[in-house]
Amino acid sequence: MCGIVAYIGPKDASPILLEGLQRLEYRGYDSAGVAVVAPVTKSAPAKLRLCKVKGRVADLAAALPARFKGGAGIGHTRWATHGVPSDANAHPHTDNEGRIAVVHNGIIENADELRAKLAADGAVFRSETDTEVLAHLVAAHRAEGGELEDAVRAALKLVVGTYGIAVLDAGQPDRIVVARNGSPIVLGIGEKEMFAASDVSALVRYTRQVVHLEDGELATVRADGFRTFTEDARTVTRQPSTVDWEVGSYDTGGYAHYLLKEIHEQPGAVERTLSGRLDERFATAHLGGLNLDARELREIRRVKILGCGSAYYAGEMGAQLIEELARIPAHSEPASEFRYRNPVIEADTLYVAVSQSGETYDTLAAVQEVKRKGGRVLGVVNTVGSAIARECDGGMYLHAGPEVSVASTKAFTSTVVAFALLALHFGRIHDLSPADGRRIVAGLKALPDQIRQVLEQQQEIEALAAEYAHSQGMMYIGRVRGYPVAREGAQKLKEISYVHAEAYPASELKHGPLALISPELPTVALVPDDELLDKNLTALGEIKAREGRVLAVAHRPIEAKHADHCLVVPKSEPELDPLLLNIPLQLLAYHAAVALGRDVDKPRNLAKSVTVE
Ligand code: G6P
Repeated sequence: MCGIVAYIGPKDASPILLEGLQRLEYRGYDSAGVAVVAPVTKSAPAKLRLCKVKGRVADLAAALPARFKGGAGIGHTRWATHGVPSDANAHPHTDNEGRIAVVHNGIIENADELRAKLAADGAVFRSETDTEVLAHLVAAHRAEGGELEDAVRAALKLVVGTYGIAVLDAGQPDRIVVARNGSPIVLGIGEKEMFAASDVSALVRYTRQVVHLEDGELATVRADGFRTFTEDARTVTRQPSTVDWEVGSYDTGGYAHYLLKEIHEQPGAVERTLSGRLDERFATAHLGGLNLDARELREIRRVKILGCGSAYYAGEMGAQLIEELARIPAHSEPASEFRYRNPVIEADTLYVAVSQSGETYDTLAAVQEVKRKGGRVLGVVNTVGSAIARECDGGMYLHAGPEVSVASTKAFTSTVVAFALLALHFGRIHDLSPADGRRIVAGLKALPDQIRQVLEQQQEIEALAAEYAHSQGMMYIGRVRGYPVAREGAQKLKEISYVHAEAYPASELKHGPLALISPELPTVALVPDDELLDKNLTALGEIKAREGRVLAVAHRPIEAKHADHCLVVPKSEPELDPLLLNIPLQLLAYHAAVALGRDVDKPRNLAKSVTVE
């Protein structure tokens, strides 16, 4: 949720740090800061320079003094957890003398206790953050002599909690020490220069050669190389890997916002999720990474899907697909709740963790809880090599490409497509007939073009969004397959436009929420052409009879007596319909947010990856 970047080499660090922070800003954006070690001159020893402000990275760039030079530096973009957004609480944090600077992602759980001890020993605290204790701890150990890495190791031994950190020391300007425990740190290898960051997106402009640290590992990064080691000072060898994401994936590419770009990237994202996985001959899907053979898969009696936010709703669509195609009971649950209710873990249940970022702490902790109790977990994850992907026993990568905007769109769609593949694979080793398998394979292959057709309606949706955006609130309704679509549609609108939206099964309207219906509270209704069409139309009639306005998303035009407006999307196979019904709702939320002047890619109070509880 916060972002870290570090540079050491012959160039001036601050422009590189600022550019890295800009790319990380989607993770957190209430304050930002950088520290560099000013070069040693004949007359002056190396000195730490610090600049940090409440606000965006652009505010930091504006505040940066002209002569802010240094060949080693660390930077941070913050999303407040401990202490309000302010200049003082922004990272980096330093010790009393301003010789040690630390940037940190994660939470130090015993910060209060450490702070009291350090204060008693003379540490002066200037912020309300948990991070500041790290700067004082490292400084206290450095004062005892030894190298920076020894001081960092000693400090981390006293700390309980999660962290990804980068530490700079004016006394040893030839190195930066980084460490990881529960919050990612990746090293970037350049030509006589080195980088580190919390996320590869900050590095791809400079290098494709990266090294992912494991939890409990540290690294000393120097201009000419790096060394990785454990908290007990044991050296570990880490081989670099090559990142395949393009730099261009991190630009808006001519679109007004990342969100709009990512909505339009969905046909390509779906193609990549499907690529090499469809088997037309046997009407099934090949999923190489499940690490489960057909016999093990046949023994599974239940599927439990775990995720947060949109990942949880994508899981609801996934559960529906698995039940329909494989006839295995399946259910999606918020990972954030699951891990706190002492869940019963069963040997014949397959657990599936869903996460775009692969970093969401609640989801990671749920995976760890399942594994602690002997359960088997698959990951449906977009970010290769992420914490959740590595914690799982096997799984599927989405290959949707990087998603930068906070609200999920293409990763959501690709997740549901991945579940369709899993359901097809499961189904074909159970009761799904070859004919039905072929039907689903053909349906999946047709999706990218059908999504393109929906995207062509953008102008029409924009006009409708302008009309509906100023409503007091919105109701989203759907039945069975349409209900998770309604939930995700309402979530998208809430997240980025701040218009209150509520999702209900259409069948539940008359059991309560019908009381809310009025001309000020319009309804978005999912009305697929399926066995529930007539019942859905009856519900719309009830809304219209109470002067409610209705925007229907349907497979054929809906009569005026049932809806004021109708968006028609192409028909897929019934099991896959939710994927296409969801696309207009993304555009509706996007254009409503734009019409209301919202900060679409960085909605207030939200961050892309929530790496704390
Ligand atoms: C945050 C974001 C949501 C996202 C959720 C899960 O809460 O604001 O938009 O759906 O995290 O993220 P994940 O990376 O695990 O899919």
